[in-house]
Amino acid sequence: MGKVLVLYDSASGNTAKMATLVAEGAGSIPDVEIRLRKVDEATADDVLWCDGLALGSPTNMGLLSWKMKRFWDETMAPHWMKVDGKIGCAFSSSGGWGGGTELACQSLLTVLMNFGFLVFGVTDYATKLTTAHYGAITAREPREEGTQAACRLLGKRLAEWVAVFCDGRKDQHPLNKSDARLGPG
Ligand SMILES: Cc1cc2nc3c(=O)[nH]c(=O)nc-3n(C[C@H](O)[C@H](O)[C@H](O)COP(=O)(O)O)c2cc1C
Repeated sequence: MGKVLVLYDSASGNTAKMATLVAEGAGSIPDVEIRLRKVDEATADDVLWCDGLALGSPTNMGLLSWKMKRFWDETMAPHWMKVDGKIGCAFSSSGGWGGGTELACQSLLTVLMNFGFLVFGVTDYATKLTTAHYGAITAREPREEGTQAACRLLGKRLAEWVAVFCDGRKDQHPLNKSDARLGPG
């Protein structure tokens, strides 16, 4: 059974709400086990356990938070070169649109790439005007239908890739499924 970890930092609860939605989306794919962990409680074993990781952080100066950086600097550093080939994606909440949310996603993906993760974006549109091409993003909490849908879609796609690439379940490949997929409309 494929294993998905949703690992996040959150100081005031906004990224935590996104994390719950990402986990919910991952849970829409059958036979995938899901763990939701806040960075303060997470251990290296959580990361070693998973096949796929959705990594979330509040946008801090356009980057991942210091706590999330410390987790990879200190907790995960001894495991560098031991987690190659896991699948990764990112999500972030910022104070406002244009505040660097996608830059923060890129910084999360950069960390994952350094550890050998295979990182991805989502081509589909979650709603007519919302995508998660570089990860799921929100300003503050995910209040709108579009930002909520983007979080769920990110988690769903992660679980699909885990099913396909880690469990050999080709039927879960998005191109082989009859689920409606939205492009720019
Ligand atoms: C130290 C610090 C740096 C921040 N930097 C940014 C930033 O660069 N851009 C932005 O839009 N918001 C910034 N914010 C606001 C947070 O990203 C925003 O409030 C976010 O929703 C917090 O998520 P959380 O509730 O998960 O902690 C910053 C907040 C803090 C505390």
